[in-house]
Amino acid sequence: TVKDPLILVIFGATGDLTARKVFPAVYNLMRTHTLPHPFLILGIGRSELTSSMFQHNMQAALAKTHKVDPSAWEVMARSISYLQMDYTRPQDYAKLKRTLKALDPDGRTQGNILFYLAVPPDSYALIAEQLGKAGLSREYVKGNGRISLVVEKPFGRDLESARKLDRTLHTWFEEHQIFRIDHYMAKETVQNVLMFRFANAMFEPIWNRSYIDYIEITAWESLGVEHRAGYYDRAGVLRDMFQNHMMMLLALCAMEPPSLFESERVRDERSKVYRAMQPFPVDRIDQRLVLGQYAAGIINGRPVPGYVEEPGVDPRSLTPTYARMKVFIDNWRWQGVPMFLTSGKRMAEKRTEIVIQFKEVPCSMFHRILGDHITANRLVLGIHPNECVDLTFQTKAPGTRVCLRPVNMHFDYAKGYGGPLFDDYEKILLDCMLGDQTLFWRQDAVELCWGFLTPILEECDCPDRRKTIYLYRAGTNGPQEAQRIKP
Ligand code: BG6
Repeated sequence: TVKDPLILVIFGATGDLTARKVFPAVYNLMRTHTLPHPFLILGIGRSELTSSMFQHNMQAALAKTHKVDPSAWEVMARSISYLQMDYTRPQDYAKLKRTLKALDPDGRTQGNILFYLAVPPDSYALIAEQLGKAGLSREYVKGNGRISLVVEKPFGRDLESARKLDRTLHTWFEEHQIFRIDHYMAKETVQNVLMFRFANAMFEPIWNRSYIDYIEITAWESLGVEHRAGYYDRAGVLRDMFQNHMMMLLALCAMEPPSLFESERVRDERSKVYRAMQPFPVDRIDQRLVLGQYAAGIINGRPVPGYVEEPGVDPRSLTPTYARMKVFIDNWRWQGVPMFLTSGKRMAEKRTEIVIQFKEVPCSMFHRILGDHITANRLVLGIHPNECVDLTFQTKAPGTRVCLRPVNMHFDYAKGYGGPLFDDYEKILLDCMLGDQTLFWRQDAVELCWGFLTPILEECDCPDRRKTIYLYRAGTNGPQEAQRIKP
């Protein structure tokens, strides 16, 4: 439960993200009595709306996915206001300041404000700067209140633009005030990677190059680009999924244990992984990377269009919707262990998982009977939809002969737990309110990942290179050519 009272200020309050994610999360938190008191919400958008119109819109959006309890909603609605702003006009930030004061004349929220930027990323710098100039960033921090700024990825589109954005954010806000969201980190099963590794004594001693053959991190989606062509066609899968979620999963698998589970120490260890990543050999890029784009195909029995036929996509677009990449981490633990990262849209299924493939036994006493090869152990950390831990190992097959069979030890994550389950955005909001940055990206890590990916992106974006984007039919396992990226 969050104790400190607060005003949540949502920029982009009439947009999709607010209606689909932020508001439902706030509603659920209120229903589970997790929010502080008082908790005020100020929605900000460009449209001319009254507070009651905004409340009505939010109620309608919620009703699409929730059974809204009228009395609970009535209580919540009382704390919701709306302010129309033009984000470019300094006068409007003065108006915002006055509105904040008017909403809480007695200072019951103690100057605590959470600015949530649910706006297109090209507005982040502008809004942060204007907030700062209006005295709504650090100046408050010097008093009693805590001010936080929440931004969603993408944080820039390459190393240079990420640094530029950061310079602006840091001109007005301190790093401890900035919460860069990676919604993957809010997934229970993603957080579980660290618990599983570091709260058990039996896995960590073999979690290294001596025992692990390779690691395979997969994030397949069956969805296509949906209504996000404007953003996606400029981003592509490397910026959309790799720069953030895939890199985060990689760090969780590969990092060293911090001495304390504390935000800065955990983030230090994640950054060290990125620092140790072997630069991509851009002259031999084909050995390490395959890019693809979905063509028309069948998903769940119904035909779907190819990427270039999707509304809003340039028909000549060479934006990749699939990538498979082989990376190495140059340190003592991981030297020589390939790590495969694969993500794609319009794949055969929605599946996110981490596979730890162990090495075969060093010497088989069964080799005269069974031959040299014994299938090695495999550990699957299922993230979605199978939220599980699954260990495959060999046992004797029943019968008189010496014969092995692989069997599974399976743990279903949700089974046997009766407590409340928070969804991704609920957890994100909670941590922002609590000021806990463990789940969020720190700027050094953002830059290190961009530093790793930017040469690859430049190489991919150059006109000659762009020919080698392979088509794959929607609803399949990606391009055939990806099979050459293997251990
Ligand atoms: C988002 C990407 O960050 O993650 C989307 O922008 C992608 O393109 C989504 O679909 C996947 O998230 P999840 O939680 O559905 O795996």
